[in-house]
Amino acid sequence: MKVLGFIGSPREGGNTEILVEEMLKGAGDVGAETKSFNLDKMAIAPCKACMHCKSNDGECATDDDMQEIYKELKEADAFVLGSPIYMWQMTAQAKLFTDRLYALFMTGFEEKYGKKDMALVFTQGNPDENTFEGYYNSTRDMFGFLGYNVVDMLSSQDNNAPGAVNDKKDVLEKARAIGKKLVKAD
Ligand SMILES: Cc1cc2nc3c(=O)[nH]c(=O)nc-3n(C[C@H](O)[C@H](O)[C@H](O)COP(=O)(O)O)c2cc1C
Repeated sequence: MKVLGFIGSPREGGNTEILVEEMLKGAGDVGAETKSFNLDKMAIAPCKACMHCKSNDGECATDDDMQEIYKELKEADAFVLGSPIYMWQMTAQAKLFTDRLYALFMTGFEEKYGKKDMALVFTQGNPDENTFEGYYNSTRDMFGFLGYNVVDMLSSQDNNAPGAVNDKKDVLEKARAIGKKLVKAD
């Protein structure tokens, strides 16, 4: 059982990293092997819409760090995507990763490598938990449409300071529980 974590924040030691790592710890607690990737440190180009993937078994023609992620995703059972909210949406780093998952969409990936479970985690500065609810829900629905089994989603508010989420024990506990749930989802 392998669970991957994708961190969509450029801020090292920030709230996204803390929450993604907490989910991975939860998965690790119940026996999963885990590995995390900081998307900001990887060279991931935008999808070029060349459609090479659609006639080449989901192989993406862009030779960059996303190739390593495709390989890891094939072998993994589940993954976590974490992102801060930047301008009411996920960060550019998280979106580049998300767009590049298009290569795997409707190319027999699921049949060959299994349906992957996943969890989403968002952190925001705004203290109001309802402001981005519509965005969170549509992002979850989009990943479901892409073919992933979205096991759970977590958002944490009022996190302008890096590490602010460390003071929110309930949120950390929820993150850990979601990590465990990802392992049990299989
Ligand atoms: C460029 C930028 C845009 C942001 N936009 C929003 C926003 O639209 N709404 C919000 O609530 N917080 C916004 N924030 C605050 C971050 O979402 C918040 O600080 C988050 O916890 C950062 O996560 P990190 O610690 O993992 O980097 C923004 C921060 C930056 C740097």
